[in-house]
Amino acid sequence: MADNRAIGVFDSGLGGLTVAREIMKLLPNENIVYFGDTGRVPYGTKGRDTIRKYALQDERFLLSHDVKMIVAACGTVSSVAADTAESLPVPFVEVVSHSVRVAVRATKNGKIGILATSATINSGAHKKQILESLPSAQVIESAGTLLVPIVEEGWTTLDDTVAIETLRRYLKPMIDAGVDTLILGCTHFPVLSSIIRNILGGSVTLINMGEATAKAIEKLLENSNSLNDGTLAPKYDFYASDKTKSFEKTVKVLLGDYNKDFEIEQVDIEKV
Ligand code: DGL
Repeated sequence: MADNRAIGVFDSGLGGLTVAREIMKLLPNENIVYFGDTGRVPYGTKGRDTIRKYALQDERFLLSHDVKMIVAACGTVSSVAADTAESLPVPFVEVVSHSVRVAVRATKNGKIGILATSATINSGAHKKQILESLPSAQVIESAGTLLVPIVEEGWTTLDDTVAIETLRRYLKPMIDAGVDTLILGCTHFPVLSSIIRNILGGSVTLINMGEATAKAIEKLLENSNSLNDGTLAPKYDFYASDKTKSFEKTVKVLLGDYNKDFEIEQVDIEKV
């Protein structure tokens, strides 16, 4: 048995492309429909009700594309609005629990850092789950509010002084505490990995939520016999609620080797 419908992936903006990229890498036969809510990004500074309303609209949009699964490629939605998926007719995958599992396995000194949006940090989702599986863990949290606009703006090169100085500030509590593992708790952040590594040093393990989640998606599709049979080349459809000046450059950075100059269609998400 196979299911050749696409995997639906959404994020508040373009950051979820770091998750889409990991799915493309691990599951090259799968079709993907991606929606980035670039007109309303960031979600991470908004209140719970607004984030829930947006998540429901994003999920409805993906369902209208007959997807076989919905992936919330957004740490913020996964942390504060995962319950919006309860009545979905297809499986739902969030990004928090899988990355927590990998982090708990990776840490040696039990000191785990979480760098995420303020909504994610305020939800306490990562911390709660870490302490459930590793009660002795010391969890150091930092809300990297300015990092999402920095990534959406494409300021991610190794020599970008704004990104470097901003990260130095947000990572200070992690350095002071001596974390050996850091969860990049926002899907925008993997493209800042090299700068983060330069600041923290090579001995800290960085957990990319996209990698951890792609593995969970693979398992879920295998267990339900729903993998794409690969008879046709994979199709990637991208939608966004706004196209900004730096949009195309940012898409290229986030998709990395997987960028193929895709067409991105603009949609009015409020009308979905
Ligand atoms: N990629 C989202 C997340 O993982 C972005 C955050 C935002 O919209 O503030 O949290």
